[in-house]
Amino acid sequence: MEEQARKRVFSGVQPTGKVTLGNYLGAIRNWQPLQEQYDCIYCVVDLHSLTVTQVPAELRKNTMELVALYIACGIDPTKSTLFIQSHVHEHAELAWILDTIAYVGELNRMTQFKDKSRKHADNINMGLMNYPVLMASDILLYNADYIPVGKDQVQHVELTRDVAQRFNARYSDTFVVPQTLINKSGQSIKSLQDPSAKMSKSDPNDNALISLNDDADTIRRKLRRAVTDSDTCVRHGADKPAITNLLNIYTLCSGVSMSDAEKSFEGKGYGEFKDAVADAVISVVSPIQAEQKRLLADKAYLEGVLKTGAEQASYIASKTLAKVYRKVGLIPRVR
Ligand code: TRP
Repeated sequence: MEEQARKRVFSGVQPTGKVTLGNYLGAIRNWQPLQEQYDCIYCVVDLHSLTVTQVPAELRKNTMELVALYIACGIDPTKSTLFIQSHVHEHAELAWILDTIAYVGELNRMTQFKDKSRKHADNINMGLMNYPVLMASDILLYNADYIPVGKDQVQHVELTRDVAQRFNARYSDTFVVPQTLINKSGQSIKSLQDPSAKMSKSDPNDNALISLNDDADTIRRKLRRAVTDSDTCVRHGADKPAITNLLNIYTLCSGVSMSDAEKSFEGKGYGEFKDAVADAVISVVSPIQAEQKRLLADKAYLEGVLKTGAEQASYIASKTLAKVYRKVGLIPRVR
C-alpha cells in the first residue's frame, strides 16, 4: 500500500438544495482545523445528487455555490484538495467494481435508503440503492483513514469498511479500512419544528431548518418560531429537547459553554433567549455568506481551484483504480 507521511481525511457534501446550519456545525465547520494535521481531500459529490431528480441548471448553480462555500468555511485549496466528484471519472468506475462486492441485502437495510425510498416513492431508482457504494468508492479511491461526517453517515462508513475488508480478503490487501471521525461537539442539530428529527435540508417545512443562504431577518424569524418545551426555563436536558437543541446551536455558534449559557439566561424568557441564539447564528453565518458571494464573483479563481483539485485527485484515483482492475483480473489496456 502507498505510504503516506500524514493520515488522510476525506469528506463530501451533496450539492443538493440548501446547506443547513446542521450540516455546517456538524460537518463542514470541523473540516478546517483538520487541514493542519491531515492530508485532506474535500469533494462536492454531484453524482450522488442525481439519485433524486434535479433541475440541471440548479444542480450546476448549487455545485459552484458549494465549492465557494467550502472555501468560505476555511477550506484552503493550497492546503487541501478540493474537487468535484464528476471531474474524476474513477469514482463511477470503482463503484461498478464495488457493486460486485456489496450485497443487495446490506444496501437494502441502509436507513437512509429506506428513508429516501419513503420520501421519493415515485423514484426509487437503482442509484438511490447504490448510493453507499458510490460513497465507498469516494473513500476507498484515496485510501482515506478518517471520514469526518455527521452521525447519519456512520452506517455508510461502516458499509465502506465491510466492502473494503471483503475486497481485501478476496483479492489481497488493497484498500485502507477507514474510520469515522465524529466531532466531539457534533451532537446532531435538530429540526426547529420537531426536536426529535434531525435538521434536514430536504425538510418540506422551511421553518424547520436554517439554511446557510438565509438572510439575518429570516434566521431571526425562524428562531422566533422554533418550538419550545413546556416550562419556561432555559436549561438543557432529556426532558427539554427543543431548548436543548437551541442551546446546542447557541453554544456552538457563540463559543460560550453550556453551563455559562444556562446561567446567563437564568430568569429570562424564551423570547430573549431566542434573540440571543439568532444573534449568535447570524454572527457565524453572515461573514461566510459575504465571503461566498465574493468568491462566486471570481469565476476564474474558482475554475483554477477546481482544475488543480481534479488533477491532484485524479493522480491518486487513477493509481488506485488501475491496481483494482489488475487485482480483479482485467487486462490493462496497451497504450
Ligand atoms: N453521503 C454523504 C452525505 O449525505 C455525502 C458523501 C458522499 C460523503 N460521499 C462521501 C461523505 C464520502 C464522506 C465521504 O452527507
